[in-house]
Amino acid sequence: MVNLSISLLFIFFTLFSSSSLLARATSSGSPDTQSFLQCLSLRNNTFIPNNITYTQNDSSYSTVLNSGIFNLRFASPSTPKPLVVITPIDESQVPPVVECSKEHGLQIRIRSGGHDYEGASSVSQLPFVILDLLNLRSIDIDVESGTAWVQSGAIIGELYYRIAEASPTLAFPAGVCPTLGIGGHFAGGAYGTLLRKHGLGADHIIDAHVVDANGRILDRESMGEDLFWALRGGGGASFGVILSWKVNLVPVPETVTVFSVQRTLQQNGTELLHHWQSIAHDFHEDLFVRVIFSRIGSVETGNATIGVTFNSLFLGGVDRLLSMMQESFPELGLVREDCEEMSWVESTLYFNGFPTQPLDFLLNRTALDKRYFKAKSDYVTQPIPLAAFEGIWNLLYEEEAAGAVVIFAPYGGRMNEISKSAIPFPHRAGNLYSIQHLVYWNAEDNAESEKYITWMRKLYRYFGAYVSKSPRAAYINYKDYDLGQNNLGNTSFAKASIWGTDYFNGNFKRLAQVKAVVDPGNFFRNEQSIPPLYYNRKN
Ligand SMILES: Cc1cc2nc3c(=O)[nH]c(=O)nc-3n(C[C@H](O)[C@H](O)[C@H](O)COP(=O)(O)OP(=O)(O)OC[C@H]3O[C@@H](n4cnc5c(N)ncnc54)[C@H](O)[C@@H]3O)c2cc1C
Ligand SMILES: *[C@@H]1O[C@H](CO)[C@@H](O)[C@H](O)[C@H]1NC(C)=O
Ligand SMILES: *[C@@H]1O[C@H](CO)[C@@H](O)[C@H](O)[C@H]1NC(C)=O
Ligand SMILES: *[C@@H]1O[C@H](CO)[C@@H](O)[C@H](O)[C@H]1NC(C)=O
Ligand SMILES: *[C@@H]1O[C@H](CO)[C@@H](O)[C@H](O)[C@H]1NC(C)=O
Ligand SMILES: *[C@@H]1O[C@H](CO)[C@@H](O)[C@H](O)[C@H]1NC(C)=O
Ligand SMILES: *[C@@H]1O[C@H](CO)[C@@H](O)[C@H](O)[C@H]1NC(C)=O
Ligand SMILES: *[C@@H]1O[C@H](CO)[C@@H](O)[C@H](O)[C@H]1NC(C)=O
Repeated sequence: MVNLSISLLFIFFTLFSSSSLLARATSSGSPDTQSFLQCLSLRNNTFIPNNITYTQNDSSYSTVLNSGIFNLRFASPSTPKPLVVITPIDESQVPPVVECSKEHGLQIRIRSGGHDYEGASSVSQLPFVILDLLNLRSIDIDVESGTAWVQSGAIIGELYYRIAEASPTLAFPAGVCPTLGIGGHFAGGAYGTLLRKHGLGADHIIDAHVVDANGRILDRESMGEDLFWALRGGGGASFGVILSWKVNLVPVPETVTVFSVQRTLQQNGTELLHHWQSIAHDFHEDLFVRVIFSRIGSVETGNATIGVTFNSLFLGGVDRLLSMMQESFPELGLVREDCEEMSWVESTLYFNGFPTQPLDFLLNRTALDKRYFKAKSDYVTQPIPLAAFEGIWNLLYEEEAAGAVVIFAPYGGRMNEISKSAIPFPHRAGNLYSIQHLVYWNAEDNAESEKYITWMRKLYRYFGAYVSKSPRAAYINYKDYDLGQNNLGNTSFAKASIWGTDYFNGNFKRLAQVKAVVDPGNFFRNEQSIPPLYYNRKN
């Protein structure tokens, strides 16, 4: 008897230590991968092993799992692993995955581009499967009506490329990094260089196909306006599996102009940045000038300084840009040599740092190097006082800040005209700009990742005095579990409101009410999903 349990223990031990891939699910003992797979095949015989479904026994499991994780913090051996990764090649394969996960008490993690800042599309603390939509990525552009249907698994680089292929004067106002997935990105808002002229990606969604918690495929008409509202900015993963979006494209001129001008602290970087804060939101809406700053030089050799880069897209030619800058921001001293004219689609390559790559670089899902990072966001309603920048520079001179970057993105223009409740994304009039705080580190430093995360929290505390308060607003697409987490998705509305109002301000309650109607059993849930708020209910 004793021997038997020792050998059983031994078997368990070797199982766990020899395969770091074993899900926590296995230890919690319950769900049976085989019966989940059987459930799928009973509904449809197209779930081919090692092709559409990948279990821990399949040779491609790790490759398929890890290729969809952008933040390497969530691809470590100790990260909880899914029982199965499912990569449908047809939309009809999605409802069975929802139904069988539900039937077998498994969590579902939906993945489109895998760029989630907290790894929410690839990691769960409960037994789970990953539904990876990377093969559902058709893009159908209709130039005549200026619209497009885009499947969730497409990346935005593909969308930009296909739009430009169809017309030189159409564009879409979404994010900068070309490998973002359409599914998660549009669900959280989606902003980029066209924000001041055209608003967010989510502002331009006109229809959607979604699989709900009952496995039904709905469109805008059949889902109704409440759910359609919630999908456009309420964040992915709370309401269903978005299969595709229909969007309105926006007009752009055939020629746009870009520039990147860096000023160090010795070149008045602080004063220029301080001044930028009170003017950039008020520039002509054709002019988007963001600021990116980080430490440059070397602390050891004593020439460390801050590089403050003014990085701009102008919707027009260089002559008009120069006269506009002369009028609006002469202090920057922009000259013609700083500027370059190009097409809008070329500007998307310029903004992600690959100006010399051929356009088909935009189609490459693995174009960008994966990183270890932690990020946070803020919104600013009053300029940060000049003296306060000194404290920011001091933090950036600290050791942990070698890979730190802060980005200020101007609001104003179109963003001021859209009501705060038009879609769940609430950050509109009244905001001068948004901030993204980022810190990157290397694989060698990953053992000390806590050090960098702690530094990021310190930077965020410092900024606290100067940014929006009550709530301290944040962007759901820059997901941050420090703001508060659901207890395995099982948290009261009141508790979730702590982070819910940071992301959605006054729209959080309506999101929770919609959730109660469309997913009352809270099947679609994660650490920061919208909790159901039951209303119209006696007692
Ligand atoms: C390098 C980098 C650059 C970025 N640049 C920008 C930028 O310029 N502008 C901007 O606005 N944001 C930017 N972001 C943030 C980005 O918008 C979010 O990370 C977004 O959620 C990514 O979407 P995804 O599909 O790639 O991510 P995923 O990790 O696949 O998904 C994100 C969340 O949405 C859920 N989800 C995914 N697909 C679906 C679906 N089909 N149906 C329902 N739920 C789904 C996931 O479960 C997860 O909770 C950037 C992120 C990175 C890493
Ligand atoms: C099974 O999936 C295939 C595509 O993969 C689809 O053509 C077929 O209609 C599905 N069958 C059922 C019964 O849903
Ligand atoms: C495997 O899946 C791919 C799509 O990812 C498909 O093109 C291919 O035909 C499948 N192979 C088999 C053997 O079914
Ligand atoms: C994995 O392989 C083991 C040993 O062959 C087998 O017992 C188990 O059922 C397999 N699991 C799955 C999910 O196929
Ligand atoms: C910095 O600003 C001051 C005052 O605004 C100005 O006199 C000076 O020439 C500027 N220096 C540089 C390098 O731009
Ligand atoms: C700092 O000094 C190094 C060499 O001493 C030089 O290469 C680098 O450009 C300098 N950086 C700055 C920001 O001045
Ligand atoms: C995609 O980009 C990566 C990194 O630049 C490169 O290694 C790879 O070859 C590219 N793939 C294609 C198909 O171009
Ligand atoms: C969720 O919380 C409720 C109330 O506290 C509890 O009854 C229920 O068991 C919890 N469910 C899970 C999955 O933890």
